[in-house]
Amino acid sequence: MERKEPAGVEPPPKQDLCPVLRTPLCICVAFACLAVVLVTSIVLQAVFYPRLMGKILDVESDAQMLKGHVNNISTLGSDLKTERGRVDDAEAQMRIVNASLNRVRSHILFLETSMKLAQDQLQVLTMNWGKVDNLNAKIPELQRDLDKASALNAKVRGLQYSLENVNKLLKEQSDILEMVAQGWKYFGGNFYYFSHNPKTWYSAEQFCVSQEAHLTSVSSEPEQEFLYKAAGGIPYWIGLTKAGSEGDWYWVDQTPFNKEQSRRFWIPGEPNNAGNNEHCTNIRVYALKCWNDSSCDNKFLFICKRPYMQTIE
Ligand SMILES: *[C@@H]1O[C@H](CO)[C@@H](O)[C@H](O)[C@H]1NC(C)=O
Ligand SMILES: *[C@@H]1O[C@H](CO)[C@@H](O)[C@H](O)[C@H]1NC(C)=O
Ligand SMILES: *[C@@H]1O[C@H](CO)[C@@H](O)[C@H](O)[C@H]1NC(C)=O
Repeated sequence: MERKEPAGVEPPPKQDLCPVLRTPLCICVAFACLAVVLVTSIVLQAVFYPRLMGKILDVESDAQMLKGHVNNISTLGSDLKTERGRVDDAEAQMRIVNASLNRVRSHILFLETSMKLAQDQLQVLTMNWGKVDNLNAKIPELQRDLDKASALNAKVRGLQYSLENVNKLLKEQSDILEMVAQGWKYFGGNFYYFSHNPKTWYSAEQFCVSQEAHLTSVSSEPEQEFLYKAAGGIPYWIGLTKAGSEGDWYWVDQTPFNKEQSRRFWIPGEPNNAGNNEHCTNIRVYALKCWNDSSCDNKFLFICKRPYMQTIE
């Protein structure tokens, strides 16, 4: 903005200078001034040139550096691109790794589950082992029980054996009782039947055979004693005869006859074979020496003898 001068102080008009220029003085002054300016400018240039040059150099070097930077930046850009590619690759790799890591993790999870199961099973097994141990501990006890059981078994077998014997005895008793009920007497393992009707010696033997027996033999003193006592002094035919032989006595039930041993059973003076017809023997008197020989056709009571034989079932 132009400052407004007060109206009273108006400056002299400048049109007066221009006409001056047209004068030679004016031209000289003008040249002088021009020269001064020229010199000053040269001096100034001389003074400032090196500095200016320095500045220019600086700017140049700055420009150079800038260029370098730009280069570097563009390099960096391509580098970045490469890096970016690399990062992408790395990410893909990482995803793969992560995937396999996930697989590994799930595998580990699976393994952990399996391990837990295994542990549970191990616990069960351990418990079972405990049971086995308990059983093991019980084995000696069981062995003792077994020993007792086998001892008991032996006893049972013994008892069974006894029972069988008892059964045998009972059977014997019942057999004997049955025979006794039918009128037989039992002595020393044989049954004896004392008849009630007199018969000839042959008929008597026939009757005995029909009863699965024979007229009695006598092979010991106790038997002889039993027979004469049971006969009670009444004559009974016995199984001793000479019938059909060359005069030798024999027992009709096939018991071997011992002539010497039997001497003590004859009535003294007997057998006398009276009338050459006494071929059969009877118990005649109440004594150990009670045998007498008689005619086989005489009818006497008679004694059958049947050996007792346990029927095997
Ligand atoms: C450009 O980069 C190189 C190495 O990458 C470095 O040595 C140099 O100083 C950098 N230039 C500039 C101007 O930053
Ligand atoms: C890896 O996988 C897990 C589960 O699938 C996911 O949560 C996580 O973000 C993934 N990490 C990377 C880096 O991909
Ligand atoms: C022996 O038997 C005969 C007949 O055979 C008889 O006469 C005799 O008296 C008997 N002897 C005795 C001791 O009974």
